[in-house]
Amino acid sequence: MKKTLVEFKNLKTYFYTEEGVVKAVDDVSFKINQGETIGIVGESGCGKSVTAMSLMRLIPNPPGKIVGGDIIFENESLLSLSEEKMREIRGNKISVIFQEPMTSLNPVYTVGYQISEAIILHQKLSKAEARNKAIEMIKLVGIPRSEEIVDAYPHELSGGMRQRIMIAMALSCNPKLLVADEPTTALDVTIQAQILDLMRSLKEEFNTSIMLITHDLGVVAEMCDHVVVMYAGKIVEEGEVKELFKNPLHPYTKGLLNSKPSLTGKNNNKLYSIPGQVPNPVNMPNHCYFYDRCEYASEECKKGIPNLKNIKEDHRVACILYKEEQ
Ligand SMILES: Nc1ncnc2c1ncn2[C@@H]1O[C@H](COP(=O)(O)OP(=O)(O)OP(=O)(O)O)[C@@H](O)[C@H]1O
Ligand code: SF4
Ligand SMILES: [Mg+2]
Repeated sequence: MKKTLVEFKNLKTYFYTEEGVVKAVDDVSFKINQGETIGIVGESGCGKSVTAMSLMRLIPNPPGKIVGGDIIFENESLLSLSEEKMREIRGNKISVIFQEPMTSLNPVYTVGYQISEAIILHQKLSKAEARNKAIEMIKLVGIPRSEEIVDAYPHELSGGMRQRIMIAMALSCNPKLLVADEPTTALDVTIQAQILDLMRSLKEEFNTSIMLITHDLGVVAEMCDHVVVMYAGKIVEEGEVKELFKNPLHPYTKGLLNSKPSLTGKNNNKLYSIPGQVPNPVNMPNHCYFYDRCEYASEECKKGIPNLKNIKEDHRVACILYKEEQ
């Protein structure tokens, strides 16, 4: 029996903008098991980053607010913790890496200083011990000449090296959960593959769970055990990776899978883009959000917003074309 590390329970995170309420994450429930990598996929604006920011309790308020549900981490409600307790968890038990490391690294401090700071903050180590640990971490993430690099400034490093430094920082406290929000999008393909390899081997070594946010289904297929497909703030399909790729159910997931260039040239390597657009976030319809773009849409679909149904063990979908497993 797998042990649950994090459980999102009916999470609702809304933004109160001048145009109206944006339900960025609307009634989202899923679990991350210990040592498991979960992929969160979906088009731009579907709520992937807001889900991650809610977990870290980093939603800017105003305009944003978690208005419902809960996030349980190691049997404790993160949403009811004091800010001080939450700071102990952030960067310690839960670490995050963002897409563009330059925005997360401070240009005026050496990378060694920044890794050491993170270590000193969460572990009771002296400055000298923290520096040694920083050198060790730089080595671990595969950067050569770690004794010199520890004294380098971020601008002296390449994009791939900076992302490795971010990973070194994120992993320096042995987090239980690593949240990686598009960690390789800004990198070229070779470096991207190296960073993914690195994350995979670190996961195996430390049994870290990973929440990997990406729009790249190839990365999901390669890295993840489980995948959550989001559309306009809601989960439309969720399941074990192999099952979901073999047997995608939701018309949106099918569209996303069709839009993946195929190595075999089966799709003529042309990107298939799903026609149409996501509905206006401040004025969502009261029926299936995918209706206007769905080739299977019927009058029946206008009767309400479909719930997630269990189709098989570990495979759920929100679409009226499917009946719940009895
Ligand atoms: N600070 C904010 N103020 C108002 N709306 C916001 C804010 N942050 C996010 N949103 C809205 O929340 C929704 C979800 O955004 P989110 O950043 O989670 O998308 P995403 O899935 O991560 O997209 P991308 O793939 O482009 O990173 C969007 O409609 C976005 O406009
Ligand atoms: S509920 Fe209807 S409109 Fe929505 S995805 Fe299913 S078939 Fe398409
Ligand atoms: Mg995002």
